[in-house]
Amino acid sequence: MTRPRPFPWLFLLLLFLLPGLPAAQGQGAIASAHPLATEAGLDILSGGGNAFDAAVTVAAVLAVVEPYSSGMGGGGFWLLHRASDGYEVMLDGRERAPLAAHRDLYLDDSGEVVPGLSVNGPLSAGIPGQPAALAHLAARYGRLPLAQTLAPAIRLAREGFPVDAHYRRMAEWRLEQLRRWPAASAQFLAAGEVPLPGAIIKQPDLAETLERLAEQGRDGFYRGTLAERLVAGVQAAGGIWKAQDLADYQVVERKPVRGEYRGMKITSAAPPSSGGIVLISMLNQLARFDLESYSPLQRKHLLVEVMRRAYRDRAEYLGDPDFVDMPVVRLIDPDYAAGLVRDIQLDAATPSRHTPAGEHGEGQDTTHYSIIDAEGNRVSATLSINYPFGSCFVAPGTGVLLNDEMDDFSARPGTPNVYGLVGGEANAIAPGKRMLSSMTPTFVETGRGVAVLGTPGGSRIISMLLHGVLAMAEGEGPGEWVGRPRYHHQYLPDAIQFEPGALSAGEQQQLQALGHRLEPLDSTYGNMQALYRERGTGRLSGASDPRGMGSARVE
Ligand code: GLY
Repeated sequence: MTRPRPFPWLFLLLLFLLPGLPAAQGQGAIASAHPLATEAGLDILSGGGNAFDAAVTVAAVLAVVEPYSSGMGGGGFWLLHRASDGYEVMLDGRERAPLAAHRDLYLDDSGEVVPGLSVNGPLSAGIPGQPAALAHLAARYGRLPLAQTLAPAIRLAREGFPVDAHYRRMAEWRLEQLRRWPAASAQFLAAGEVPLPGAIIKQPDLAETLERLAEQGRDGFYRGTLAERLVAGVQAAGGIWKAQDLADYQVVERKPVRGEYRGMKITSAAPPSSGGIVLISMLNQLARFDLESYSPLQRKHLLVEVMRRAYRDRAEYLGDPDFVDMPVVRLIDPDYAAGLVRDIQLDAATPSRHTPAGEHGEGQDTTHYSIIDAEGNRVSATLSINYPFGSCFVAPGTGVLLNDEMDDFSARPGTPNVYGLVGGEANAIAPGKRMLSSMTPTFVETGRGVAVLGTPGGSRIISMLLHGVLAMAEGEGPGEWVGRPRYHHQYLPDAIQFEPGALSAGEQQQLQALGHRLEPLDSTYGNMQALYRERGTGRLSGASDPRGMGSARVE
């Protein structure tokens, strides 16, 4: 007698609804911007840690080996998915303005923005969130002690890592500022010059700082000897930090923002990141069009127009949710998007109002990593110290390179920051406030699987995610999500920025004929790290952006 077979539709429905199923084999997968970070994270997974333990390790190793991108003196957002119960949360470890900060901190007596003040030196540094976020991640979601998960970073800080071409490019770019501060120069340069390829960068002070964190948890960073050194160093160099700034710092658990696009479920960063809202707004707008029915040129024009509108709302409405009321529900409502696209014309660009452009960064700062473990836990984390090498300031005796995230505030509403972004009142500086971010760690779920992805790249982060998600909607795999040529519009400046080769000569001419201004970039941008887990089989795959030197590995 044959046994009755389960009803196949019910089986398929269950596969779609279940938050996570055990992987068929292996420890998990990690994609990060540096092979040493990916490897250290995989070792933690194979040593019994879960994705959240590995997330501590990867962040700490990146802080050591990619000091120009993120670090213990910076902050970030960790989007988490816990497989056992499907719980999803965004850890907000974003920097805060010091309590002595005020709205006009970067203005001179005549109300003009003082160039460089919000980008260089200790006055540009917000209160770091990464150490608190790692301690929180370990205590609430991990299963291994910090002493174990921080050990690889401590070893690399003490024994050193070799300088590569990218390190040299970043150090060259910030050389003048790194030379200004003796502790930074000693840590990252060789006798005041960019170190030679293969030179070993040892960071004994940073190793000691990481050990304090491993032994004492968050208090090892935010109270006691290290906190005293940080505050004394910052104040002696003209900064405004106080002991209370560090003691008061808190990680916040925030509900991610959610949206849908053509049957795909998008889960992404909530304010104080603008990322999730802008991404979902762009997708909601695009959902009003049958993209396949348009020519490739028309599709590019449409993408630019939806970027323009979503970034306009970013500038107008978004800031720290603990300080400003924002119409988040409206901004991610498909009906609101229907109103936004009403004035898009197929035969003409919609002018943004004119504003002067800022000094655009190369988009190489910040970092992202993605992790999926064997149980189906997921982490999508984007971390930053803002500009390459952040503020370029290290408080003596700490090894902690401070961020220059204060530049992500509107120094003066309407005046562009280093990314050319303008902001409004919602993102004005206030004591203890978090500055608006573009970091967009994201999960994308379909009936067939789930993707974990994100990228660095300043204001262009969100449009990069749009290109990646659209590639996924078209049925492409991780290699195409991270590799697709990129173009970007952020409302102001009113120009399409694009990578070499992203727009053909003919497309450039046609876009100009529609009224678009073009700003070709000399180099590529971004460094996307993406993983994919197939539903049912648990099979893992991934890709690291070919523009960077990262590695995506499945073990
Ligand atoms: N500092 C880059 C960002 O948070 O958007």
